[in-house]
Amino acid sequence: MGIKIKIAAAAISLLVIGGCSNNNPQPAEEMDQDMEEMDHSTMGDMMEGHMSHDEVVSLNDSTGENELKIPSMLETDNEDGVVYTVRAQKGKTEIFDGTESTTYGYNGSFLGPMLRFEKGDKVKIRTINELDEETTFHWHGLEVSADADGGPHDVVKPGEEKVIEFEVTQEASTLWFHPHPEGKTAEQVYNGLAGLIYIEDENSKSIGLPTDYGKNDFPLIFQDRIFDDKKQLNFSAAKNEDGTIGDTLLINGTLNPKLTVNKEKVRLRLLNGSNARNYTFKLNTGDSFVQIATDGGFLNEPVTLNEVTLTPSERAEIIVDFSQLNTSNDLALVNEDGSVLLPFKVSDQDEVISGISEELNDFALTEEEKNLPVTKKVELFGMMDMVTINGKKFDPDRIDFTQQQGVTEVWEIYNKPDMMGGMIHPFHIHGTQFKIISRDGEEPPENEQGWKDTISIKPDETVKIAIQFKHKGIYMFHCHILEHEDNGMMGQVKVE
Ligand code: C2O
Ligand code: CU
Ligand code: CU
Repeated sequence: MGIKIKIAAAAISLLVIGGCSNNNPQPAEEMDQDMEEMDHSTMGDMMEGHMSHDEVVSLNDSTGENELKIPSMLETDNEDGVVYTVRAQKGKTEIFDGTESTTYGYNGSFLGPMLRFEKGDKVKIRTINELDEETTFHWHGLEVSADADGGPHDVVKPGEEKVIEFEVTQEASTLWFHPHPEGKTAEQVYNGLAGLIYIEDENSKSIGLPTDYGKNDFPLIFQDRIFDDKKQLNFSAAKNEDGTIGDTLLINGTLNPKLTVNKEKVRLRLLNGSNARNYTFKLNTGDSFVQIATDGGFLNEPVTLNEVTLTPSERAEIIVDFSQLNTSNDLALVNEDGSVLLPFKVSDQDEVISGISEELNDFALTEEEKNLPVTKKVELFGMMDMVTINGKKFDPDRIDFTQQQGVTEVWEIYNKPDMMGGMIHPFHIHGTQFKIISRDGEEPPENEQGWKDTISIKPDETVKIAIQFKHKGIYMFHCHILEHEDNGMMGQVKVE
């Protein structure tokens, strides 16, 4: 009952935002044109699976019966500590007690390990494809030259391997890696290919943050899935062209997870690793927490929030202070609609509480950057398999933009509504971290005033970003709803 009302309210607010009602009519000629481009049966099909508004299925509450799994930290192959081997493989995983599901993973049967780099490291990674299909190894958020980036051009065939090398030049952050083969990204990620990258630096070790991996510093990879009656991930049956959404949440691959913590400040590194679902995270008690980092680094100071929204591939690091919460209540991380994502079990043990610095970083958006003219325009449009960027679908042989290495430009990204209102598209650019200048002309919220590699863009919203590439080569930009990406909502920028 309560939930239904909330959903209805959310639907109404989405309608208003999206301009589905008459608040925001599309010019008649444009409408006609859009309508002309599709015949009636396509229209029918589109409406049926379209994911924009209120039909997003809720997640089942976590029962909390399983302790959260923590990805292992990947050991290096040599003593210098900078040579790694990452294998994409297929395997069986007991997600449900007593049943094996067929899954994909890196260096294991499901998901992947965590790779920990120090700023300044010269890293070498041997990537090996042990799958029986092509894949690529993409390092999401990492500032590397395009030949190490693992986009759709960098196919590693079954049984083959590729060695990449790069220097870690960016600041401390939580990044991730996943496959990127053309037209197959959604399915491979859905089956379990995703892993974490932590970058640490002098700053991240000196600002008093919890850094004990798996004790008070936890990664949380949120992925929703649909399991069939044999408890299998059956992507072709589950697939939705607008982004596959499931009713079953896995965190770090754990079904019905709970997290045991001490009465202390705990750092949660949230990653929305879902194909399409958006999450709005909050505590069930309504208590606040602080956000300390965005996709690509620390915020200048902790930002106090009651909730934080992440669209696919976005990250946020938050600190929850369990020494300050009333632990006689049931505590849990919940989603917008109240579904229980992660119950916490707070042990009685009091820990020494360290102070977190109020000064975390020196991120700045300069006046000069704010005043640069817009030199690239990106228009996101469509739904289902009719998604485009600037009216075009991805073509690996077409370069959409060129930009000079080391030169900051301003890109303006617009999410053009359609006759159903449209939907949020998470827009991602490879090989760099950028700064948000404005959302619809306004300064971005405090918790977006930091390095980003993905931004959510609402229907009819215009976002301006300042972006620079440190390296050369061809990089992708795309919607991170993975089915949209596979359906061609992707373009290429060549950095010269
Ligand atoms: Cu998360 Cu094109 O990538
Ligand atoms: Cu990426
Ligand atoms: Cu999209």
